[in-house]
Amino acid sequence: MNLPDISAPAIDLTVVDPFAAGEYHDLFTYLRTHAPVYWNPVPGGDGFWALTRHRDVAAAYNDHANLSSSGGAMLGGSLHSDVDTASGRMLVASDLPRHRMLRQVMHRVFAAEVMERVRTRVRVLVDRAVGDLLANGGCDFATDIALELPRGAVMAIMDVGYEEAAHLVDLTRRMIGYRDPRFGASSADSVRDQRLRLGVVQAEIFEFFADLVRDRAATPGPDLMGILLTAEVNGNQLSEEDILYNCMNVAVGGNETSSYTACAGMAELATEPAHLARLAEQPELVDSAVGEMVRWSSTNAYVQRVALRDTVIGDQLIGAGQIVTLWNVSANYDEEQFPNAHTFDLARSPNRHLSYGSGLHRCIGASFAQVELSVLLERLVAAGVEFELAGPVRRLWSNFILGITELPLAVSGTRPTTGRDRS
Ligand code: HEM
Repeated sequence: MNLPDISAPAIDLTVVDPFAAGEYHDLFTYLRTHAPVYWNPVPGGDGFWALTRHRDVAAAYNDHANLSSSGGAMLGGSLHSDVDTASGRMLVASDLPRHRMLRQVMHRVFAAEVMERVRTRVRVLVDRAVGDLLANGGCDFATDIALELPRGAVMAIMDVGYEEAAHLVDLTRRMIGYRDPRFGASSADSVRDQRLRLGVVQAEIFEFFADLVRDRAATPGPDLMGILLTAEVNGNQLSEEDILYNCMNVAVGGNETSSYTACAGMAELATEPAHLARLAEQPELVDSAVGEMVRWSSTNAYVQRVALRDTVIGDQLIGAGQIVTLWNVSANYDEEQFPNAHTFDLARSPNRHLSYGSGLHRCIGASFAQVELSVLLERLVAAGVEFELAGPVRRLWSNFILGITELPLAVSGTRPTTGRDRS
């Protein structure tokens, strides 16, 4: 690979263009090689550290003594301020001991029987969407099929109907896409305009969940809302605000990630038909294929931590209070950990990707994402559909969530189905 002619001080990972163009790998190869613990200056603001090697990112995820999650996972905070207002309340933005107590509550949401409901819901929706794909000879996978994954999951986790689930997924899509012209942003927007748009859509999501609290308060069921309404943390019920924050965490954590991961995987399958044919022959590879899709897409590009005290990473001193970012998308392509990292290998094993994070905050929905993506692959294989790219791919304007927002596919043929059907 040709390394770009860039000097480390010129690299600014907050510049979105390379991410939106899908051209960030050379940048990270450079950083891993020359500045694996990189101080990213931010014009007119505080800078941050960027970790790009697999071993440093994995170690940082597990260094709960020195690195705090309370600043939230995304650079720049949320809503109207630089401080994440979810700090200490939302699972992903809390530290020990609060995190342990919240996580115990949330584990009940991710129980095996809920996972089976997710499987059933997603399967029905994917079958319908793949039927439409075959009937119409093509589709925009990003909008016509990928979104059915989180919709099915939301129906099962929150016990809501299809329309409500679709509305929630639409809201979280707009929230994560708050800087993307496709979702109403303009290049003339100031940071304040962007924050305002983010704040408005976040308020709509809170309203969605506040309505659900009102509906369910009298007769809480065994779904997400019911579990949070009846939960006790330290002998106290959760406040309504805490309930809303954690519903938001599940919705945002699950909706965008699984669907954008599906898009990245499908873009790869569409450019290389041999992959699906191999899966049809060897359905036992579905699990590793999903793992490779999750590594390949590295949908959650990075997470943020804040140093609680002076600490050393690599040979670099990190000052107390400084921000440290853990770049999954770089760690997942570190050749030291992944031989032929730039080859999509659906039988890759071992595959110690960090797309779900690691340590105490490791994605609590990982097994659900795994189910959603497995069902997708299994149903595509069962339908015997072959497809190819039918137009340009468009990517989300974000350096935090890496996503494909337009993925036009055309059916290029059908394969005789094998009758082997795991789902
Ligand atoms: C391919 C799909 C997914 C990816 C790439 C992904 C990625 C991640 C990552 C990197 C973290 C760790 C954040 C940190 O350490 O700060 C995380 C945590 C979390 N994820 Fe996922 N996620 C996925 C699917 C899901 C799903 C399907 C759900 C729910 C339905 C979900 C809900 C959550 C929640 C609630 C947390 C917070 C866990 C904690 O802080 O203890 N995620 N996810």
